[in-house]
Formats: sequence, structure tokens, C-alpha cells
Amino acid sequence: MSARTLNVVERLDALRVLGAHEHGIDRALLTPPERAARALVASWARASGFAVMQDRVSNLFARREGGRTGRKPILIGSHLDTVPTGGAYDGAYGVVAALCALELLDARGIRTAHPLEAVAWAGEEGSRFPLGALGSSVFAGLSDEAAVMTMIGDDGVAFADALASPEGGLLDDVPIREERDVAAYLELHVEQGPVLDELGLSLGIVTAIAAQRRLRATVVGRSGHAGTVPMSLRSDALCAAADLVLAFESAARETGDAVATVGRMIVEPNGTNVIPNRVTFSLDLRSPDERRLDAIESYLNDAIARVQAQRSVRVEIEAFERRSATAMTPALREAIARAIDALGERHADLPSGAGHDAMSLGKIVPAAMIFVPSIGGSSHVAEERTAERDLLLGVEALAGAIVEVDRALD
Ligand code: GLV
Ligand code: MN
Ligand code: MN
Repeated sequence: MSARTLNVVERLDALRVLGAHEHGIDRALLTPPERAARALVASWARASGFAVMQDRVSNLFARREGGRTGRKPILIGSHLDTVPTGGAYDGAYGVVAALCALELLDARGIRTAHPLEAVAWAGEEGSRFPLGALGSSVFAGLSDEAAVMTMIGDDGVAFADALASPEGGLLDDVPIREERDVAAYLELHVEQGPVLDELGLSLGIVTAIAAQRRLRATVVGRSGHAGTVPMSLRSDALCAAADLVLAFESAARETGDAVATVGRMIVEPNGTNVIPNRVTFSLDLRSPDERRLDAIESYLNDAIARVQAQRSVRVEIEAFERRSATAMTPALREAIARAIDALGERHADLPSGAGHDAMSLGKIVPAAMIFVPSIGGSSHVAEERTAERDLLLGVEALAGAIVEVDRALD
């Protein structure tokens, strides 16, 4: 007798221990716990009779064949990687829910015309390598695979070397998926904000995903002795960086309807009594309206010119990611709404300030997203939670939406 298929809550519980530490879950792309998560999902998918494949950047696919030949697959997915102090739901929920939805269709004897593939996209968070939604961007042809291979992670390891590592890299004995044809894309995700929780609703349909940019600034100054170099003669890279961080914050506040975050900073040489000579920091900016991001970058460039002149430092900016806002496809949103109605549930339409792999797929095929509530709106923290009832309802809504989308595309 085969083992009972685990439900979405049990699977999230099995995944949450991978990469768990005192302050949350750290499952950065191509690290041992992230590979273990991929291996676990692959084993669940195989046990349910789905064909498992991976591509050359470690995206993982579990395929359920369709009833008609010649149809491109409907992909349903999210990601298994986390931020350094992540929670158990961001990303992982959408992956295991996709698998559970495919199993639900099997259990109910529902055959779709299109093949269905549950997908775990590689490196959505951009926590190790400097590109967010990395795997889905390469899959969608938005990022060059060869360029990604040479990207250097925060730990100094090149992407290609991380992929080749037996501890964190590609899975053994999983065939490579070459095909990139897709009919449509669906993603189920926790909201990561407070809207559904405050409205007391269990389900949301995403209208659009905000435009976002990820940059890296490097400030180069001059080191010296903390006790001997007079203030007037310093080129302190950290003071210059602090000036720029505050200018970036002001730019977002003054522009409005935009958010700007510096979440990561490396100070060198990082000695108590040494004037910093080099500071590198991340810049993350988002808005539903891309023109506001242009305005913030222009304000930042003015601040850089001022800081270079006033503080005798050199500032370099590298851009890793520039994504326009991604509208979700109306016909797919309507298909999801029909599935939610059929469950007797109400929903809210809401935008996403967070980035998702649907940003990548939504640039090449019809795409849509379902949200379930995040209790108190918290996310990217260890405490993120979604009620069990909502997790289960999300899977039902997703399974219903797959059937509706399959019909709508035919
Ligand atoms: C991913 O969660 C992002 O929005 O950066
Ligand atoms: Mn996510
Ligand atoms: Mn996230």
C-alpha cells in the first residue's frame, strides 16, 4: 500500500525545518537546505506519479499530462528559497499548493486538456545572487542564461559553480527540461501585507505587480587611522553611504506611492578604529508607477553628484534588475473569480507590492495570481503565518482556477 499523500500543511511543516535557525529560515538558492527542499518536492511529485524535470538553472518541474495532444502546459508555481530570516509560507506555499492541486485533480478524476506542471522557480528572493526571480527570468528569456552563470553570490561563489556543487546544486538523476513553451501561468502566494486580513477575506485576486528595480551602490573613499586623520581631511565611505541612504529614503517619501529600501550593507575594512574605505549597499525600489522609480533614480543621481563633490568619494551604481509593472491577465483573473465563486467564497482584487515569479511569466504568457491572507500582514520575517483554513482553501481555489483556465484557453 502506498503512503498517504501529505496535505499542504503537512508539507509546509516538512519544509520549514530545512534551513531553520534561531531567527527564521535561511534557504538561499543552491545551498544544501534549498537543494534538500527541491529533493523533497521532487520525491513527493514522483510518489504521486508525476514526471519530474529540472532545467539548467535548477528550476524544478512536476508534470501531469493533459488529455489532448499538442497543448502547451499550464505552469503553476512559486519558489522554495527564502530571505535570510524568512518564514515558512513565502514561496513554499505556492509550490506545495501547486502539487496538492494536481493531486486533487487526480483524486477527483478531472482530466485537463492541457498538461499541468507544478514548478519550483529558482531563487525568487535574490538573497544569494543579485537578481530576484532569477530562475523564472531565465526561463522566460528576460535574463541571459550565460550572464547568470557568471553572477557572483554574496559568498563569492559563481552561479555556475554553485550549480555544479553536489551539496547545493542540480539534483541527481533528474532529466533536464529543454522545452520552454507555456500556455499560461498561475501562482498562489501569501499576501505578505495586511489587506485581506483586515477585510476578513480568505482569498484575493492580484490585479498587477508593482514595478521594481534592484541596484547596488559602491562607495570608495580612503582609509586611515580613526584617531589621527582630522575630520576635514577624511574621505569616509560609510558617512558618504549614510548620506546616500537618507537621500534615497527622502526621494521615496517625496515622490509618493513608492517604497525604497536599503537592506544590505558591507563596510570595509570593518574595523572599529579604521576609517571605512569601501561600502557596498543594495537599493530596492518599487512602485505601481514606473515613472516614480525614474524620479527616485534621478534624485539619487543628484545626491551622488553632491556627495562625490562634498566628500571626495567615488560612487558606482550597478543595476541588476529593472522590471516594469506586470498587469495580470483579465481573462485569467475572471477564471479565478469563477473558481472562488464556486467555492461560495468572496474575494478582493488587490495589487501586489511584493515581487513574484508571475512578474517573469506574465511578460510572456497570460498569467494571474491568487493571494491568501498573511496574519497581521507580516512577511519576510520568521513570524509570518497564514491560518490553516486559508491554506487549504487556497489549494481548492487554485485547483478550481486550473480547471477554469484550462477551459478558457481551449
Ligand atoms: C520578493 O519577495 C520580493 O518582493 O522581493
Ligand atoms: Mn515569494
Ligand atoms: Mn519573498
